[in-house]
Amino acid sequence: KKVVLAYSGGLDTSAIIPWLRENYNCEVVAFAADVGQGDEELEGLEEKALASGASECYIVDLKEEFVSDYIFPTITTGAVYEGEYLLGTSMARPVIAKAQVEIARKVGADALCHGCTGKGNDQVRFESTFAALAPDLTVIAPWREWDMVSREDLLDYLAERNIKTSASATKIYSRDANAWHISHEGGELEDPWCEPTQQVWTLTTDPMQAPDEPGSITLSFDQGRLTHVNGEALSPYQALMQLNAIAAPHGVGRIDIVENRLVGMKSRGCYETPGGTVLLKAYKALETMVLDKAALKYREQIGLEFSHVMYDGRWFTALNDALLAGAASFAKLVTGDIVVKLYKGQAIVTQRRSPNSLYSEDFATFGADDVYDQSHAEGFIRLFSLSSRIKALKQQASKD
Ligand code: ARG
Ligand code: SIN
Repeated sequence: KKVVLAYSGGLDTSAIIPWLRENYNCEVVAFAADVGQGDEELEGLEEKALASGASECYIVDLKEEFVSDYIFPTITTGAVYEGEYLLGTSMARPVIAKAQVEIARKVGADALCHGCTGKGNDQVRFESTFAALAPDLTVIAPWREWDMVSREDLLDYLAERNIKTSASATKIYSRDANAWHISHEGGELEDPWCEPTQQVWTLTTDPMQAPDEPGSITLSFDQGRLTHVNGEALSPYQALMQLNAIAAPHGVGRIDIVENRLVGMKSRGCYETPGGTVLLKAYKALETMVLDKAALKYREQIGLEFSHVMYDGRWFTALNDALLAGAASFAKLVTGDIVVKLYKGQAIVTQRRSPNSLYSEDFATFGADDVYDQSHAEGFIRLFSLSSRIKALKQQASKD
């Protein structure tokens, strides 16, 4: 028996390794995904996994794939969950779970295991991916099985087995980081009336402490994909890193929200998405230049629908493919440059240009023009409002 565990090096997944060996009498292969969460989390991971009893540890670099094949397509849909959440954790789950399945195939495993709780969204996202890609493999979710409930329980469990850990009993927040964002949940944030303290935020500067001089970024897009930052050609992951580096010191991308989890309860979370906030703003600004009214309205509908597909872990579904295909069709037009100003937590678009621009100064001007005959508007409005006129005339006639 062989199990591939999605391993982070944290306390939970460290305890899962001996627990699996004891309760399933199996060999445990640790698998960690590098989705840009940072070197501190990945450092010494293999030694840690082996010290906890794993037979092998695979660390797979998914940074470019994550940004290029999951984040960039999601941006073309404009998806934002419940009007605020930029889906950072949600987008990472399918790419991680897919790579985990690939490792399971490579090592000939019979089961897949994750460290998500039984109360959250992540379990759904992992297991929906497993279902779509490896329906034959068993899924093990220790948090839904064991009776440990606290960090103390997990520390005791490891201590009893003489497994060393650097984890402490007092870790306040549940955080999840990747190239796109970091999330913060738990601790005093569980009280929605409690204002987040300074120690919640880890990625961005407090907007009140941000520089008095505004920053500025030029983003260049080619058919919906970010290709240049300030004129420099960069890979998708490098471009996102560059946006993060510029936007975070200006305190851009913090949100503090209550959201609906798929499993029914509401949860309170704080999120930092500095580069992503800039990128999405710029993308949407460029769309406003190239999509006509009906196209933009439909793209917004795709975004609303897709925000739920993504949040709910339904990446490997027919609906996902159809929505992405629709968004990709609009995205073909999204080519051009956007300038975003950054100032004390705000990201504001100040310049835009596109070879596909439908914007015409000749038509839009409040000054004199010779392309638009204002008298044409009269007939348009008469027909556009004809049904209202007919209804009102009928009402008047019935009163007489
Ligand atoms: N609530 C967010 C989401 O469902 C963030 C979840 C964070 N996950 C974690 N394992 N800490 O996408
Ligand atoms: C978890 O429950 O494992 C994290 C939170 C979530 O998945 O929503």
